[in-house]
Parts: sequence; C-alpha cells; structure tokens
Amino acid sequence: MKRGCFLSLEGGEGVGKTTNLTFIADFLRRHGIEVVITREPGGVPLAETLRELILDEAGLQPEAELLLIFAGRVQHVRDKILPTLERGQWVVCDRFVDASYAYQGGGRGVSRHRIEYLENWLVAGCRPDLTFLLDAPVEVGLRRARARGDTNRFEEETVAFLERVRQSYLERWRREPRRICRIDASRPLAEVQEAIAAKLSRLVETWRK
Ligand code: TMP
Repeated sequence: MKRGCFLSLEGGEGVGKTTNLTFIADFLRRHGIEVVITREPGGVPLAETLRELILDEAGLQPEAELLLIFAGRVQHVRDKILPTLERGQWVVCDRFVDASYAYQGGGRGVSRHRIEYLENWLVAGCRPDLTFLLDAPVEVGLRRARARGDTNRFEEETVAFLERVRQSYLERWRREPRRICRIDASRPLAEVQEAIAAKLSRLVETWRK
C-alpha cells in the first residue's frame, strides 16, 4: 500500500483557509483520491478539548500554550494522521507544526530551538509533503476575521503580533521553498484556487507514478 500524502494549510488570520481547505479536498476527491480533513489544534477528542483552552483561556503563558499544542499534536499524529497515511489516504490538515513556529515562536517569542526540540522528539517522521501558505497583509486578514465575529485570543492580538506571525511564516517559506508553496491570498479567490489546483495536479501526478 502506497502511503498517502500529507498536506497542510497555513496562514494568518482571515486569509481564507476554510474556503480553500474545502476546495483542496473537493479537488483531490474529483481526482479519485481518498481524503481525510483534520485540523490543529484539534483533530482527535483529547486535542479538541485542549483546543478550547488554547483558544479561550486568558493568561496562558507562552510555554504553557506551546506545550498544550504539542500535547494535542502528538495524540493527533499517532491516533489519526499516521494511521490514515498508512492506509493510503491523504490527509489535509488545517494548520500544523509551522503554526507553532509562527505563533508561539514569532508571535510569542519562544525560541525556535525549543520548538524544534519538541518537533523532533514528538512528531519526527510526520512532516507535510506539501504546505500551502496563504499569505496576505495583516490588515486585510484581520478585517475579514473580525467581520466574522466571535473572535478567539489570537484574532484579538495586536497588529504587531500578527505581523511577526506573518514574517515567521515567510521566513519558513524562504527556508523550505520546495515544501512550502506561498500563495498570495489577497488576489481574487478564483486566482488563488487556480494556483492551488496547478500545484495539486502536479503532486497527484507524481504520487501516481
Ligand atoms: P484556526 O483559527 O485557524 O482554527 O486556528 C486556531 C488558532 O490556533 C490560530 O489563531 C492559530 C493558533 N495556533 C497556534 O498558535 N499554534 C499552533 O501550533 C496551531 C496549530 C494553531
């Protein structure tokens, strides 16, 4: 059985992740691929419970936030992501480890080395094959996120925090341009999805060979 591909979708607040996640899953299913959609923080019951704390608990220390995220992540990876990939199905995950480098690293100032340590210890062997980074100026995304209402702790952060998040994502893209595909999410949705579809087509073709 050929292992499935692991895709993640990243970006700041309000960049259109949800719409594009559905687009990606529909595109792959139309091409005959079995897809499991999941998300972080969350994806399995324990991690969904932790998600509520992570998004809403006032006064969480950055390190506590990071550890809760990784506690959920190790459970998610072992109980769901890896078994799904082993069955030959694809996994499309709404955020993964890159988000920890961007939010807890860039945003909250936790050292990259500490995050690398947790990644290597807990989820080595589970790297996305492809990551879409939906990138848009902070003000554009924030306006969209706040217009939706019912904001979480991250959407209520300062512009400076979210700017650091954006710059950290861009730094990761520059370091790993083969894995991370940056998409300019301030363009019209049709153009965004055209770019995503082109990249996916190539990946599906390579996977089938
Ligand atoms: P969502 O709104 O995209 O579902 O994500 C929930 C929030 O969780 C988002 O604002 C970013 C944050 N987050 C982190 O801070 N670190 C992480 O590792 C992950 C996966 C998410």
